[in-house]
Amino acid sequence: MTHKKVRKAVIPVAGFGTRVLPGTKVIPKELLNVVDRPILSYIVQEARAAGIEHFVFVTGRQKGAIEDYFDHQFELEAQLKAKGKTDLLDQLLDELPKSGEMSFVRQMQPLGLGHAVNCARDIIGNEPFAVLLPDMVMDAETPALSQAISAYEQVGGNIILVEEVPEDETHKYGVVAVENSGTSLRRMTGMVEKPAKGTAPSNLIVSGRYVLQPEIFELLATQTPGAGGEIQLTDSMADLMKSQDFHALQYEGETYDCGDKIGLLRANVGLALKRTDLGDAAREALRVYFN
Ligand code: G1P
Repeated sequence: MTHKKVRKAVIPVAGFGTRVLPGTKVIPKELLNVVDRPILSYIVQEARAAGIEHFVFVTGRQKGAIEDYFDHQFELEAQLKAKGKTDLLDQLLDELPKSGEMSFVRQMQPLGLGHAVNCARDIIGNEPFAVLLPDMVMDAETPALSQAISAYEQVGGNIILVEEVPEDETHKYGVVAVENSGTSLRRMTGMVEKPAKGTAPSNLIVSGRYVLQPEIFELLATQTPGAGGEIQLTDSMADLMKSQDFHALQYEGETYDCGDKIGLLRANVGLALKRTDLGDAAREALRVYFN
């Protein structure tokens, strides 16, 4: 059976980034650098690699720099050209979207992730779509969203990427309950957002990549606030699970939570060490801290 193609992605970028203040006081957290480019650049690259053709950013006040990042900076480009810095210029131009490939919609109040995703409903329309949470930079041989879309092509319905965390950390995340099939792709039987300590149905957390069916929007529209007083995507997904299939895929790769100080540090170190052009120099520079 063929399933309708996943062409569009929603990237919610309205959050305040309070865990990495004051760095995010005037710079959107999604534009903080990891090694030498913004977090968001990794996310867009991952989505492009997975075949996404249209990006819907759900933005908020103080996030205008995100639109500017995905536009020409003519003065800078002219300067780089004049100085013959063509490698840098090419790098900038490569990152630009095709015209019309990105939409920006404003979430006017910070009412939660479910509310943010629902702000994209008119642009998504009646087709399956991906959601990528930009805090979570995923380093994987097969890009994380590609793994989710392959699973979707196999079983259809809705797919959530999950990963294991220590039991004492489950209360910080959405947590899924799955049938025990012994494989990495398992049918889900439930999910709960930020379960109280000791009540989580498993140690598999929702790690920030989703493939969802458009029927989620009908539920989001009337979703009442849940954990933290916010309109939670997890609560609407749990409702949709009553009428549609959800599968959890334990993906292969490394997650860096860049909305967190230590996660951001780990991303900088981990991704620099893996770079062919920087890895050796990074290893050398870090060595002094461990001798
Ligand atoms: C959100 C989701 C949660 C998920 C988490 C991953 O929570 O609601 O289900 O596990 O992202 O980072 P937030 O980080 O916005 O509290």
